[in-house]
Amino acid sequence: MEVVIVPDAAAGGELVAEAMAALLRRKPDALLGVATGSTPLPVYEALARKVRSGEADASRARVAQLDEYVGLPAGHPESYRSVVLREVVEPLGVSPDSFIGPDGAADDIVAACAAYDAALAAAGGVDLQLLGIGTDGHIGFNEPCSSLASRTRIKTLTERTRIDNARFFGGDIDQVPRHVITQGIGTILEARHLVLLATGEGKAEAVAQAVEGPVAAVVPASALQLHPHATVVVDEAAASKLKLAAYFRATYAAKPDWQGL
Ligand code: PGA
Repeated sequence: MEVVIVPDAAAGGELVAEAMAALLRRKPDALLGVATGSTPLPVYEALARKVRSGEADASRARVAQLDEYVGLPAGHPESYRSVVLREVVEPLGVSPDSFIGPDGAADDIVAACAAYDAALAAAGGVDLQLLGIGTDGHIGFNEPCSSLASRTRIKTLTERTRIDNARFFGGDIDQVPRHVITQGIGTILEARHLVLLATGEGKAEAVAQAVEGPVAAVVPASALQLHPHATVVVDEAAASKLKLAAYFRATYAAKPDWQGL
């Protein structure tokens, strides 16, 4: 995998947004897999600026959700459908008809999961999947010990993740759902390009384990090592526990411009 160390979160946002803009120039109807949480916001802000300035065109882009809470009422402001509509679909000018995600309010969650995997396949697969990483090493909501072959399914959140996400629910952990639907690790690995973005000291240990540790279900993000085109973009703080940081810096500094991410 390629590891790119950037000075700060804004630089990471700009770099990943440029990769998305370049993809949309090559393939205007690309399917962008988007993540929620705080980390990807600078990406969406940078890409929206590019759309406004005419540097990027997302008018034909399609957007796919990575995961969703189970049991929040439709339209709840913290459902990931609402978040992606607010942070990505509307600012980029993507048609809401071109936005797919799992139905976390479905009566039959098992069927909703299978339907979402089928919808991703019918859409031709995700071209670029943006990922965050949990402090516990999760990608999507694949918590530690998720099968590396897993498909979209219901998962139970760890206490750690519910504490981390309580900030979106007024700091009240009791408001954070216990269950989620997430693309499985096997599903995520089918995207053509994986881009994991991590910023801040709190992610340094999880990043080091994912990048330099063994491939292991206990660190779900380590599954990126199995993907032929995986890019990890980290700021200095998130890179601070990487033993090979000097090598990663030298490699990126010597990379030809035409190659992109
Ligand atoms: P965060 O979440 O970007 O809000 O830290 C990342 C994740 O849980 O994947």
